[in-house]
Amino acid sequence: MRNEVSVLFTEEQIARRVAELGGEITSAFAGRRLSVLGLMKGSLVFTADLIRRIPLDLTVHLVRVTTQREQAAGRVLTEIFFSTPVPLEGRDVLLVDDIVDTGITLSYLLAHIHEHAPASLRVCALVDKPESRKIDVHPDWTAFPVHEPMADRFLVGYGLDWMERFRGLPFLGTISRPAVR
Ligand code: IMP
Ligand code: MG
Repeated sequence: MRNEVSVLFTEEQIARRVAELGGEITSAFAGRRLSVLGLMKGSLVFTADLIRRIPLDLTVHLVRVTTQREQAAGRVLTEIFFSTPVPLEGRDVLLVDDIVDTGITLSYLLAHIHEHAPASLRVCALVDKPESRKIDVHPDWTAFPVHEPMADRFLVGYGLDWMERFRGLPFLGTISRPAVR
């Protein structure tokens, strides 16, 4: 299975970067309580590693977003599921996202969370593909910006999947872009 996958960022590179981000986020929220929202399922592994690098008084909730793209009809359907009722009002919220690609999923989710009046709302993304953006949203922290031509490859591993496969790989890898996403 691994033969099809080329390594893009190794386990060690990821660990170093996650520790750096944890430090930056810890400084940014110093003295405050933090509500971490992990976007499932792609940021499962990233969220688990990141929270262990943020020694603050924090809570973790998991959010599930389903985006169904019906390009031909020009329709985008997004459904949000919270694992448990998430208290957002007046909280300092850190949304942990896997990949920001077109930005459609993230912007939808940000709008939804803003309706619940958090005290602050910040985003930490594992991967940002800025050239693929259709909606202008920017993560506050990004572990790995991925630019052309790598943005043309499909990323898998470290929680990221292709058709639910590869999530368990300990590194971030790429496979040739599948014909159907
Ligand atoms: P978008 O920003 O709304 O286009 O969608 C981002 C979502 O698409 C991410 O949360 C991923 O689940 C998925 N995605 C985009 N590019 C990739 C990739 O290269 N590998 C795995 N999932 C991807
Ligand atoms: Mg996803």
